[in-house]
Amino acid sequence: MGRTTASAPGKVILYGEHAVVYGYPAIAAPVTQVRATVTVCDGDTPGVRLLAPDVGRDVWVADAREDDALAAAVRLVQQRAGLEELPPLVIHLESTIPIAGGLGSGAASAAAVIRALAMHLQQVELSSDAAVCDLTYLVERIHHGTPSGIDNTVVAYERPVYFVRRHPENRIEPLVVGRPVHLLVGDTGLRSATHAVVSDVRRRWQEEPERFAPLFAACGAIAEEARTALEAGDLARLGTLMDENHRRLQEMTVSDPALDRLVAVARDAGALGAKLSGAGRGGNMIALVESEQIEEVRQALLSAGAVQILASVLA
Ligand code: PMV
Repeated sequence: MGRTTASAPGKVILYGEHAVVYGYPAIAAPVTQVRATVTVCDGDTPGVRLLAPDVGRDVWVADAREDDALAAAVRLVQQRAGLEELPPLVIHLESTIPIAGGLGSGAASAAAVIRALAMHLQQVELSSDAAVCDLTYLVERIHHGTPSGIDNTVVAYERPVYFVRRHPENRIEPLVVGRPVHLLVGDTGLRSATHAVVSDVRRRWQEEPERFAPLFAACGAIAEEARTALEAGDLARLGTLMDENHRRLQEMTVSDPALDRLVAVARDAGALGAKLSGAGRGGNMIALVESEQIEEVRQALLSAGAVQILASVLA
């Protein structure tokens, strides 16, 4: 029986979240230790069955609602492949990426479904990074309203990127890192719905453009400078820029006491810099650490209540 597997990683936004929605540059990187993995098998009953046992899901695509993201991913592949009907299939999703934690779990799940299904159907074009990126973006729009496009880009290309939302085409540039960058990703354990935070920021920006517009521009300038520092391997500067970015995000009202606490603890334990990552108001924070400091910062984060810590290296 035919069987195809594909996966997509988690991601962190290093600099520029939220501002990226408004056309400013941002930098993001994959977190490869956590992944969404999809296996597609030929089925023995007509129809396409979607199984995600981690989240207790077992649905037939034909019965799924229009706003069901994974079913939408399947329908999009079918449409783009120009297939009137799909053969009997079972699509099985497993993910180790925490849901609603700012690590891009939704984008990774959709990307893995799209890639595995396209490969299974032998649609070579549709399983390319560029096609997976584009289709994942369309799925992200179902729940996120106005996603910038950075999440689907990082999980589809699986490498650090400098990203600017643009019409008609986003600017996507892979980054070459001058020196290995060690990151610790600390989870507050608090879940946060990206679309709710993004739409609240939009409302505040509309109410107080004179306060929010300069904040977005400042985050864009930070991301721009961070790109140069990353390429030059200037870790000290990268740390300072993380701290500055976190301050701007606090002013945008997207941090919270749990994130602020983990960020402060990481810095006190010797991190070169730290910030929340992703939509905020819960979810994850990141700390930039030199390799000798990793253990100390990890212990400090755990003592301060982080529920999970991932170590990631950009190289
Ligand atoms: O919380 P996440 O991982 O979905 O990241 C959202 C990043 C934002 O910049 C806040 C939104 C976006 O679409 O870029």
